[in-house]
Amino acid sequence: LDNGLGRTPPMGWNSWNRFHCNINENLIKQTADALIKYGLDEVGYKYLNMDDCWEGERDEQGYIHASNVTFPSGIKALADYAHSKGLLFGIYSDAGYLTCARRPGSLGFEEQDAKTFASWEIDYLKYDNCNNNGKPEEDRYKVMRDALNATGRPIFYSICEWGRSAPYLWAPSVGNSWRTTGDIHPTWPSILGILQRQHRITKYAGPGGWNDPDMLQVGNGKLTVDEQKSHFSLWAALKSPLLLGFDIRNPSHDTLEIVKNTEIIAINQDPLGKSVNIVKSTSYLDIWVGKLSDGHVALLLNKDESPTTIKLDFAKHVNIRGEILVRDLWEHEDKGIYVNSYSCEVPKHGIAVLKLFGGTKINDFTVQYYDHNDNL
Ligand code: GLA
Repeated sequence: LDNGLGRTPPMGWNSWNRFHCNINENLIKQTADALIKYGLDEVGYKYLNMDDCWEGERDEQGYIHASNVTFPSGIKALADYAHSKGLLFGIYSDAGYLTCARRPGSLGFEEQDAKTFASWEIDYLKYDNCNNNGKPEEDRYKVMRDALNATGRPIFYSICEWGRSAPYLWAPSVGNSWRTTGDIHPTWPSILGILQRQHRITKYAGPGGWNDPDMLQVGNGKLTVDEQKSHFSLWAALKSPLLLGFDIRNPSHDTLEIVKNTEIIAINQDPLGKSVNIVKSTSYLDIWVGKLSDGHVALLLNKDESPTTIKLDFAKHVNIRGEILVRDLWEHEDKGIYVNSYSCEVPKHGIAVLKLFGGTKINDFTVQYYDHNDNL
């Protein structure tokens, strides 16, 4: 969507993955404080986003109000608090009569709600798809786009219809991001399942409009450190929004180190805004490759249950030849100059993320073939 926002994928925090409906104004304020305390704002995580369950009742004039039990000070006060800390503030609603948690939705109240959100100085709207009246997604999501636009306030518009209506075909002119798939859970099968449904649509992501494979589960559930690194790296390289979903007030050292890897964040925020795509995929491994403004990135993912060596072939997988400087973005180390290929050992469910500098293009084809997979 050409509203000046999301020229690179948005970064921040959202309440859903860790807290679901158990949110209140103190939690949101403490999370604002924690984003700053741990320096997460400094590496780019600026949006503080509330998901479902902030909503109370709609009054007789149709105005939506926050729950007076959990948000007694109101949403404007929270947005002011976030802004006073240099953060941006996000809210949630639904293109249906009720949200997914059965709170009041915005269908039929789009203009009034957009005005209310703008008067609260909201910077981001996640717009869900539960309990709608069956009208096509495209039509319902356009109404809110126009209502937000009419407020004159720049509001990042995040479309959440779970990939139901092939949103990549219509959403680039409607929203700043669109969910590609169903809800993510903090388990390895959930993350892999979503990942393996991204490769056909990577070309639709670009400045102003991003594929959204759902928010990060780094730091949640029982994901191993390698699984968290793989999840974070792949989402970053797919140019997904990077919305943290753990309890930032009590972060583990490992989780903080993962989400504060500024070399991986730089892949996500690269100004070219091109997603990686799959160049090789088997049941045991994936290789994802993409262009950056100053080189290439390659991700070698080990889906197997034991460590394995994965080989990146520069000609076959990246379409470049010549002398290539390889840098490992998790080891934070230049690995040297290589000519034909680069191999490394990758732990179970782990990933190597390589930045490649130099080399010349071999031909004009983008590498698009899948070499080869039975599992996609
Ligand atoms: C849907 C969305 C989730 C979350 C919940 C809230 O399931 O996909 O991301 O917003 O609704 O109820």
